[in-house]
Amino acid sequence: MTRISDIQAKKARGGKIVMLTAYDAWMARLLAADAGVDMLLVGDSVGMVELGYETTLPVTMSDMVRHTRAVRAGAPEALIVADMPFLSHQIGITQAMRNAGRLMQQGAASAVKLEGGGPAAATVERIVSSGIPVMGHLGLLPQSVHQQGGFRRQATNPEAQLQLVADSVALENAGAFALVIECVPADVAGEVTRRLHIPVIGIGSGPDCDGQVLVTHDILGLSGDAKPPFARQYVDVGRAIRDAVKCFSADVRSGAFPHA
Ligand code: KIV
Repeated sequence: MTRISDIQAKKARGGKIVMLTAYDAWMARLLAADAGVDMLLVGDSVGMVELGYETTLPVTMSDMVRHTRAVRAGAPEALIVADMPFLSHQIGITQAMRNAGRLMQQGAASAVKLEGGGPAAATVERIVSSGIPVMGHLGLLPQSVHQQGGFRRQATNPEAQLQLVADSVALENAGAFALVIECVPADVAGEVTRRLHIPVIGIGSGPDCDGQVLVTHDILGLSGDAKPPFARQYVDVGRAIRDAVKCFSADVRSGAFPHA
């Protein structure tokens, strides 16, 4: 069983942490048990890459519980972080604690992740005080896509950069066990990584973070045109699926499948 202390020890040793998203049991097993990634993230990106939404905003708690449970079924030993979806933690502390508890109890997550700095730090503190590990998320916040003017780079001016550093320190002080930092300039991400004692996992934020996370669909070639520019595609699974399905269809139509 991978534990939070293992992830934190990796930062202390200077080892790089690998996190990828998973939304179902089969992929969870491939990524964690077979390929040995350090942490699985059941991201609310499930809404965009699996459910066909334009943003993560329509994703519900029920969606997250269902997908987290599936990921746990496929990866019983993995450190699984479940995203708290839009409006599952912003309305009040009681609501936030109840929903974080649901992801742990019904989804069997190891930890939850929530987006935001500033006021989110108080929420993180309360959830952590109830025994639930929390990962913070700063920089590009997909749940605030309309407020941030689209899926675009954040912390691009000195004022926003100072705010980002302050927010990251506030989240660490609130008890977050790690932080995702999305789409900010590499030097700012590096500065945050050096300042914090907790692991900083980057996405589109340069090489100086303690680890990297990507949406698994992006590395597998399953995102089409939606792949963000910072992601790297390692294989074209989309093409393999298309080719296999064309062969199957041809065999059915010609009578070559099944055998008599
Ligand atoms: O939902 C998600 O997949 C995420 C990652 C992009 C960090 O939050």
